[in-house]
Amino acid sequence: MARVRFEPNGIELECSSEKTLLESLVEKGYQMCVGCRRGGCGICLVEVKSGEFELRPHAKELITQRSQTLACRAMPQSDAVVMLCEDNKFKRSGLYRWLERAGKAGTQV
Ligand code: FES
Repeated sequence: MARVRFEPNGIELECSSEKTLLESLVEKGYQMCVGCRRGGCGICLVEVKSGEFELRPHAKELITQRSQTLACRAMPQSDAVVMLCEDNKFKRSGLYRWLERAGKAGTQV
């Protein structure tokens, strides 16, 4: 498990080192702007402020700087801080907020 802080929102989540950032976000009821979810489009590109990530297969040309990674491919291997770009700031989904109010968040529906 790794503790990952998502800026500029400042939200911190416990993320499995065997799941991608995107999978962890979705599992906890957040949604962000994504495209292919397979490392081929670059829409989920985030800036890495700190931390180590293992990357699932992806199009190498999408990551042009050492400080970048793809939320749909990156699995955190240590505590980390990532910066979401203006276009992919995430938010909690309406369904998850409803499940939270009903006391059923985190259960299978
Ligand atoms: S959603 Fe396409 S590379 Fe992540």
